[in-house]
Amino acid sequence: MKIAVLAGDGIGPEIMEQALRVLDRLALPGLELTSCDVGGAGYKAHGHPLPPATLAAAKAADAVLFGAVGDPDCDNLERALRPEQAILGLRRELELFANLRPATMFKGLEDMSGLKPEIAGAIDLLIVRELNGDVYFGDKGIRTLDDGRRQGWDMMAYAEDEVRRIAHVGFRAAQGRAKKLCSVDKANVLETSQLWRDVVIETAAEYPDVELSHMYVDNAAMQLVRNPGQFDVVVTGNLFGDILSDQASMCVGSIGLLASASLGAELTQYGTKGLYEPIHGSAPDIAGQGKANPMAMILSLAMMLRHSFSLEAQAVRIEAAVAGALGDGVLGGDLGGNAGTAEIGEAVLARL
Ligand code: IPM
Ligand code: MG
Repeated sequence: MKIAVLAGDGIGPEIMEQALRVLDRLALPGLELTSCDVGGAGYKAHGHPLPPATLAAAKAADAVLFGAVGDPDCDNLERALRPEQAILGLRRELELFANLRPATMFKGLEDMSGLKPEIAGAIDLLIVRELNGDVYFGDKGIRTLDDGRRQGWDMMAYAEDEVRRIAHVGFRAAQGRAKKLCSVDKANVLETSQLWRDVVIETAAEYPDVELSHMYVDNAAMQLVRNPGQFDVVVTGNLFGDILSDQASMCVGSIGLLASASLGAELTQYGTKGLYEPIHGSAPDIAGQGKANPMAMILSLAMMLRHSFSLEAQAVRIEAAVAGALGDGVLGGDLGGNAGTAEIGEAVLARL
């Protein structure tokens, strides 16, 4: 079972260290870990945020465990060399088109949410975000118009097969949960969204057991704070999913708790090949201080065991250990507590 370990920048290496302790404790036979530089660390060591050796290791692996990328030192580099290009490049090169971002309220943390506790307590949703298309990967540029004004432009497009394959992921995820799928688009304004909606409706014919609804993205943003308990699975495009998933994380209380899986169509002998990362960033402001909450990284490890290695029981054990630590009041700074990175790692290990 080959795992490429890409810790990345900022707090990435600290939180990865704790996730690897958890993995080590499970004592799984046949693991082969390869660590590589990525992001700003990749640029500084090899001149590129996604060095060829890192990409090769990710391609050769059954799963990629990813920390975070983003380094203020690199903010003024040309776009192609900025740390964020590493994660975008991996998503594209490994054709990881389905991003699963679960947001569930942890018992006892209802007061941490920006929402009223009784509203936050009902959050149990999964955002299925398309990850290979949309305005993210269309042509883009800054051009000069005939009258001399500069104009920035980005092409938004979805082909029907791209919509269909993510719709299938959404419907199947709903079948495994409360059987409700809400497709989020902006079909009242965008043609891209009109096609999205048409294709989702066509795909629905294959899933008569799933209740499908549609929502414009502005309304979805409002409903997420008004009544997030109404959502089971949300399927949406790359840009809308990026925004709504950050919003959903704050509804839960902290972005430091949310994990994600990015999956493609490739199956290995163990499960679905994927990349697993916390949805938070590299948090350069607290990097190297032992303050970062490693829980989202540890929960990403659990998702890896579930999806890429079909080790559901181990995934559940890890998730229960994290929930147990939270329930016992082991809270990082992101949750108003003062437990440090290693202390949280130990608390999770103790409950495994
Ligand atoms: C995310 C991040 C990335 C994205 C950035 C780092 C390119 O915000 O994974 O949500 O926009 O997809
Ligand atoms: Mg984002």
